[in-house]
Amino acid sequence: MAIFSGLHLLFFSFIITTGAVSVVSGTVFTIQNSCGFTVWPGILTGNGGAQLNDGGFTLNPGASVDVTAPAGWSGRIWGRTGCNFDGSGAGRCLTGDCGNKLRCGGAGGVPPVTLAEFTIGNGGAKDFYDVSLVDGYNVQMGVTTRGGSGDCQNIGCVADLNGRCPNELRVMDGANVVACKSACEAFRKPEYCCTGAFDTPATCPPTDYSRIFKGACPKAYSYAYDDASSTFTCANANYSIVFCPR
Ligand SMILES: *[C@@H]1O[C@H](CO)[C@@H](O)[C@H](O)[C@H]1NC(C)=O
Repeated sequence: MAIFSGLHLLFFSFIITTGAVSVVSGTVFTIQNSCGFTVWPGILTGNGGAQLNDGGFTLNPGASVDVTAPAGWSGRIWGRTGCNFDGSGAGRCLTGDCGNKLRCGGAGGVPPVTLAEFTIGNGGAKDFYDVSLVDGYNVQMGVTTRGGSGDCQNIGCVADLNGRCPNELRVMDGANVVACKSACEAFRKPEYCCTGAFDTPATCPPTDYSRIFKGACPKAYSYAYDDASSTFTCANANYSIVFCPR
């Protein structure tokens, strides 16, 4: 009897232990900085979930950090540039600022920013992911899958869009172009924002501006209704998010 209870206990502690392990594993985002300058990643969890890594940290040139997201996680990751933070983590960024703080803690980045967006599947279901220029562009970003199954594709906006940014969309810092606004943000017109009479895919076709983004970055959202060539899926994968991929 005593032996039986002992085994019983062992069996249950085995379940508890393996259960805990499967919660701790999850989807790993390896966030890597291949730029020649520091990038301060921002991470925003959507749908009321917990913020990962306090929502932001410093990533020196050549550095990489693993961030683990639980099943069902949904959110966005972006890079901030030209930041100056003091010892307490207060300070501003030239692009992607989330409100004068290193740890965004639930705040999003100010456009224009290149965004990686993820919805991680629950219980082995497919993940949905994309790189979006709908809110503009600030830094080169690539998303690659590791492991996983299905039509897992490497995507992103690897081109230097700041160098190709039309004058009227440029965000300048002195003589340097540091970001490129979307036409929606720059002009606030329904035909660029796909609002009002233009609020369906049929009534909001690409524009000359969105075509510049699409031409530079074919596997990224160039405007709101660019879904067909911009949304990707993969099941049970880990992801690398690389700034300035080579
Ligand atoms: C994802 O990364 C974790 C932690 O390194 C690892 O245990 C798991 O096998 C990886 N999954 C895939 C699909 O590579």
